Amino acid sequence: MQSEAGHDEEGHSLNRVLTVKDLTYLGIAAVVGAGIFSTIGSAASNGGPGISLLFVITAITCGFSALCYAEFASRVPISGSAYTYAYVSFGEVIAWIIGWALILEYAIGNIVVAISWSSYLNNLLLGLGIEIPFWMTTNAEDAHKAYETAQQIVLAKAEGDLAGAQKIIAGFKDAPVLLGKSIFMNIPAFLIVGLITALAYIGIKESKKSANFMVVFKVAVIILIIIVGFFYVKPENWIPFMPNGFTGVLAGVSAVFYAYIGFDAISTTAEECKNPQRDLPRGMIYALLICTVLYILIALVLTGMVNYSELDVPDPLAYVFDRINLNWIGYIISISAVIATTSVMLVFQLGQPRIWMSMSRDGLLPKAFGRIHKKYHTPAFATIVTGILVAVPTLFLPGSLVTDLTSIGTLFAFVLVCAGVLTLPRVAGEPGKFKLPYINGQIIIPAIVSGFIFLSETRIEEAIINIGSESYQEILFLVFVFIAIIAALFSAAKKYSVIPVLGALSCLYLMIEIPPVSWFWFFVWMGGGLIIYFLYGYKRSKLGQTKQVSA
Ligand code: ALA
Repeated sequence: MQSEAGHDEEGHSLNRVLTVKDLTYLGIAAVVGAGIFSTIGSAASNGGPGISLLFVITAITCGFSALCYAEFASRVPISGSAYTYAYVSFGEVIAWIIGWALILEYAIGNIVVAISWSSYLNNLLLGLGIEIPFWMTTNAEDAHKAYETAQQIVLAKAEGDLAGAQKIIAGFKDAPVLLGKSIFMNIPAFLIVGLITALAYIGIKESKKSANFMVVFKVAVIILIIIVGFFYVKPENWIPFMPNGFTGVLAGVSAVFYAYIGFDAISTTAEECKNPQRDLPRGMIYALLICTVLYILIALVLTGMVNYSELDVPDPLAYVFDRINLNWIGYIISISAVIATTSVMLVFQLGQPRIWMSMSRDGLLPKAFGRIHKKYHTPAFATIVTGILVAVPTLFLPGSLVTDLTSIGTLFAFVLVCAGVLTLPRVAGEPGKFKLPYINGQIIIPAIVSGFIFLSETRIEEAIINIGSESYQEILFLVFVFIAIIAALFSAAKKYSVIPVLGALSCLYLMIEIPPVSWFWFFVWMGGGLIIYFLYGYKRSKLGQTKQVSA
């Protein structure tokens, strides 16, 4: 793999320009986005101030995974990220499955980000008095929902923004009609994906410079929010800390996890780093640390400024500042949300083609996906395909559909990367390369799992009693407990290292908190992936061909 890295079959090469600073910036670029600017709102309105605890728990979970990614990045500095790591530890089928799940994180995830981006932009433009026609800003499903809500507001002549509702109704009726159907398309989302794709296409240097600029801006705004907001915190808002108990806090898992996704994405630039084995692990860990501190502070400030129950709004950060009449800060936050989501999209739009490039080298995708542009030194064809795959659905799909799927897909990759570390031979550290510290889990893991089972005794009992009913969430929980017990037994027998085992278990735990309906769609997606594998990759892959030759 390493001999194939950095260039394609025709000898066109990628540009090795990234330093540890660039990687840290790229990591933050990918992480701080719609999660902290938007989805945190609904999570906080359920979990209350206790949501800050969820930010800590999720950060620890992500921290374990980041360390495992770092271990792989230092051993296998190849652009496929979790796909490549699975390839070297579990073989082709699991690698394909992970590669397929990563599409949920990158390409499908970017659809959600582009749609959020578009609504931030619209709000921002509205604030400036610029109005894009309603039909050009949304998809049909959301347009109909907005129309119905607006009609209710107008009929009731109460609650809500009457003028805004009338505008939506007028805008809805103005939509062009084709074959008897009103047309709605999210044009800004489509255009931004096009622009970002162009940037990713023309070069990693250009992309990195843009990302660096955007990161400086958004982090400055977040620090401003924390500092100014701190003075408006009313400690009584922090009580009760968990108004809906720990269950209410956990309901925000998917949203909070979503806010952390992205640090792993920089591993897809391994072949464009000057010194990947040293810098990639550092970049990932620095980015995660910085974001964790910012997030916990933001969660505390946000839930301290207003009562948690008010936070179920699409732009909670701007909202709390509008509430205290600091509209100018609300305005800066709206600009920052647009910039933050742009940078997230950029890194994911860089990541997806690089994973496909690696898959193509292994013969799991057509050769074109591995081709590198002679002049721009980027995986050009794969970049364009990513662009189309993301841009077209943004025109028509509602964003809410896929946030959970993005989180499940990513957690799934994290679980397998953590588990993959356990398969690696234990080697001594080398100077200049990251090495995951080995902590013997022989006693620690069984102790933690026993403690967990002891604390969850009531839930386990209830789940067993309800096993016949349709409480799928509880069945998932029992499956988790079963896997945890197996992990404890194996750790005791094989002296597994603590960090990867805890990483895999904690990601799995976050996964089972995601609603069963999203799991259903996840399985549908993965099933589709397997069918494609057996139709295409199974025979054509390098390993598949080797098997045929030796047979
Ligand atoms: N972490 C990224 C975001 O919050 C995906 O937008």
